[in-house]
Amino acid sequence: MARTWWLSALLVTAVSAQEPEAISRTSTAEMMRILNRLEPKDGWEATPPGVADDQWSYYRSQFGMAPEGNKPDVTRIGLGQLLFFDKRLSRDRTLSCATCHDPKHGFADARVKSIGINGQLAARNAPTLMNAGLQRSFFWDGRAKTLEAQAAGPILNPTEMGMPSRAAVVARVREVPEYAALFEFAYGRAPEFEDIARALAAFQRTLVFLDSPFDEYRAGKKDAISPDAQAGFELFRKHCTSCHPVNLRQPLFSDGNFHNVGIGFATNDHQNLAREAFPKLRAGDRDASIDTSEVVSKYGELGRALVTKLEYQVGAFRTAPLRNVALTAPYMHDGSLETLWDVIDHYNEGGTKNSWQDPQIIILGLSNIEIDQVVAFLFSLTDKRLAAENQRAYKAQRLRVTPPKTKAAK
Ligand code: HEC
Ligand code: HEC
Repeated sequence: MARTWWLSALLVTAVSAQEPEAISRTSTAEMMRILNRLEPKDGWEATPPGVADDQWSYYRSQFGMAPEGNKPDVTRIGLGQLLFFDKRLSRDRTLSCATCHDPKHGFADARVKSIGINGQLAARNAPTLMNAGLQRSFFWDGRAKTLEAQAAGPILNPTEMGMPSRAAVVARVREVPEYAALFEFAYGRAPEFEDIARALAAFQRTLVFLDSPFDEYRAGKKDAISPDAQAGFELFRKHCTSCHPVNLRQPLFSDGNFHNVGIGFATNDHQNLAREAFPKLRAGDRDASIDTSEVVSKYGELGRALVTKLEYQVGAFRTAPLRNVALTAPYMHDGSLETLWDVIDHYNEGGTKNSWQDPQIIILGLSNIEIDQVVAFLFSLTDKRLAAENQRAYKAQRLRVTPPKTKAAK
């Protein structure tokens, strides 16, 4: 492993020292094993698997992966990894970032909606952090512009990690003597909130998972994916790439834009929510400001409209990236769709009609066989290092499809 020995040693001691129960110790150890398995052969600073050196340097510049003041190096990345698994960053010391972004669950949490401190339900489904560094905005509504800016969100969010202030977070980190040395080394000073956010960002930028069978297929290896997945790709090209493109500039199957695809409309009265929220938003009411309202209150369903205050964006969310998507059920910003089959059914039926729905969402008329093919294509987007997890996810999702969609059914 390329990580320096003293960092590894600190990693083991500092992370395990604060685990209250044996059970979470096991799960942290298991998460670490998975992470070690995923680490590229020459360490996290190396060009990730499946990516050419020149492609990687292009991504690094295009996506600002080495920002001024936070150029990645082994100390910053290692420090970020420690912080990522450290439950001291939550008010009651029960949650770390990894609780909701667990390597065992594709860096998400396998829940409909996340559970924060004191058993509180978060307002949205936890997205994966795989390839987070290749996104142009963060959160389902895109309200954070950089990973550095994003990090304060969950730590200070009362329903997630619930820390009362930045100063309180810094005090927590300063409790740990090992951190003082590491922060000094990484950022040249005692722990500061800004540097905690920076280190977390540096670590998350290493989570690059672009090495899928589909990429091999695209590169010319015709049998890298099944004939079903190949047929599924053709259907995907026809119906989905207007919002989920894939190319050098957009490697994650997302246009980075915000669309209403009819999610959450069966269970919420958006008309009423909008009528209530807009006057507050326009008046700058703190209860309706972005970082309190959409995560704490019911207004979260308004989506991008809460950020831009533009009514036509009610119910619009960022186009979800689709790489490794098989590993992160359930789906959509509210976790309302259990499997990828449910997702395709949703699109096939033309979404849930509402006055703000994107006009591109129309009834598709796909047969059961075609639905299976699109799903097979989506399962080909998982990084090869996670092939075993992908298989397990396929079996688990398949079992939940009701009525069973088999090729014989149509
Ligand atoms: C209680 C569960 C929970 C914890 C703990 C948590 N997150 Fe999240 N995370 C979420 C949820 C839910 C969202 C989506 C929120 C939204 O879009 O409004 C999210 C979104 C994100 C995103 C945006 C990803 C994207 O695709 O836009 C990043 C990055 C992230 N979290 C990193 C972190 C980091 C770093 C930590 C630790 C400091 C952390 N999270 C702790 C649940 C959690
Ligand atoms: C009009 C733009 C648009 C089109 C067309 C579109 N999508 Fe999406 N897709 C989105 C948006 C936006 C989201 C997130 C919606 C939400 O959570 O409310 C999403 C979410 C998803 C998700 C869930 C990912 C996750 O992590 O939860 C999958 C899977 C998906 N789309 C696949 C497809 C497929 C397959 C097609 C073609 C049949 C398609 N999409 C067509 C915009 C689009």
